[in-house]
Amino acid sequence: MNNSNHIKSFVKRSGRITNSQKVFLNNKDSDYNFFSIDKALHYEKIFNNKNPYVLDIGFGDGKLLTNIAKKFPEVNFIGLEVYESGIGNVLKQICEEELDNIKISCCDAIVFLSNFIKDESLYGVSLFFPDPWPKKKHHKRRIIDKEFINLLSRKIYKNGFIKIATDWSNYSDIIIEIFNQNNKFEKINDIYLYKNRCLTKFEKRGISLGHKISELSYRLK
Ligand SMILES: C[S@@+](CC[C@H](N)C(=O)[O-])C[C@H]1O[C@@H](n2cnc3c(N)ncnc32)[C@H](O)[C@@H]1O
Repeated sequence: MNNSNHIKSFVKRSGRITNSQKVFLNNKDSDYNFFSIDKALHYEKIFNNKNPYVLDIGFGDGKLLTNIAKKFPEVNFIGLEVYESGIGNVLKQICEEELDNIKISCCDAIVFLSNFIKDESLYGVSLFFPDPWPKKKHHKRRIIDKEFINLLSRKIYKNGFIKIATDWSNYSDIIIEIFNQNNKFEKINDIYLYKNRCLTKFEKRGISLGHKISELSYRLK
């Protein structure tokens, strides 16, 4: 498997987990909306349609992901997260809302993209409030860097998008610089899927700390 030795962009948070989340988490392997990494090889068959796919990396508690999937049933969403209580939570929401256009996996996005996503197959990739790793000595752990954007540029098809939101101005400056130096993408105003989107948990935290929210949207030329 490629890229399994890269620096990890996450630490496994444990977090509080409710009994109902635990039930969904413990039963995930038999949950139709969850696929383990070995099944990811057949990811094209996990939706019974040919609708476009969007990959959401690090969905956290999953509220924004389920909210958007509900609004846009004609788009398929694959959500990746390594935070177990988030996985239990999103599987519960998918079941309660009877959504059939989201599938979830518990996997490092870099491993998943490198090994299981065909080139030019994704309509888009979203990262809402990726871990900021604020200390300079930890910047190397940030998921978004030059190599990561190059990887995405191979996996997204022409006119597909990358949507990023962050409340760390120093991270957003670096992301803008990476895209400025990458001639495969052009900056666009917004992506229709995310207009009037709800706020995420980490976004609310950033706002309460007085952080400015940067919304960055790019289209593959
Ligand atoms: C700061 S949280 C943001 C969660 C959510 N998007 C929000 O805005 O509330 C970042 C999330 O990304 C996840 N994450 C970080 N690196 C990841 C990776 N390589 N693959 C999958 N998930 C990752 C973390 O587990 C964490 O839950």
